[in-house]
Amino acid sequence: MKIMIAPSILSADFSKLGAELRKVERAGADLIHVDVMDGHFVPNITIGPVVVKFMRQSTELPLDVHLMIQNPAKYVGAFVNAGSDMITVHIETVSLKELQSIAKRLKKSKVMLGISLNPGTALAKIKPALGIVDFVLVMSVNPGFGGQAFIPGAIEKTRQLRAIFAKDIAVDGGINNSTAKLVKQVGANVLIAGSYIFGAKNIKQAIDSLR
Ligand code: DX5
Ligand code: ZN
Repeated sequence: MKIMIAPSILSADFSKLGAELRKVERAGADLIHVDVMDGHFVPNITIGPVVVKFMRQSTELPLDVHLMIQNPAKYVGAFVNAGSDMITVHIETVSLKELQSIAKRLKKSKVMLGISLNPGTALAKIKPALGIVDFVLVMSVNPGFGGQAFIPGAIEKTRQLRAIFAKDIAVDGGINNSTAKLVKQVGANVLIAGSYIFGAKNIKQAIDSLR
């Protein structure tokens, strides 16, 4: 499978977001990962659709919007209208019925749907969703902040997921050149990285090393 690198703009300099986007785009990023946090599902607050809308005007790359929010069904429409190409919701925040209705909404707009699960959530929890979604995002840190250490349990989880899921598998949290190797070995093909990429002296080298 094609390995895709998705810089997480959570670690970018928000005072010059447009320039940061162009920088990772030039350095070979495949997607832009956008972390949306509501202060309820996770203990941090970040950005909403209004910022996504302006990001949309600053890059050609697909916007991969990671909703770490409660009641995502209420907000997916706004994120679609803002120009998202991919939207991930957390299994901890939706019922299967809500997920089905989100899937219908996204399909209408040709936006891809991802399901994510926290490190503490068993793989079995997302099994009923696998037939509905376009990709899975495995969290390898507890969501809320960039720069945390990779939780090794994500490796076995990804391996088990790969055995039953043929589409894209993303891993998010604590990805650097050594953890990237481990998750690729077990079948992950989308690597999301914030601090490793934006903290690098040479961003192109950082992206190449993940790939
Ligand atoms: C964590 C976010 C991640 C985070 C990754 O809550 O979902 O996308 O920005 O940052 P690093 O790569 O620094 O762990
Ligand atoms: Zn994320």
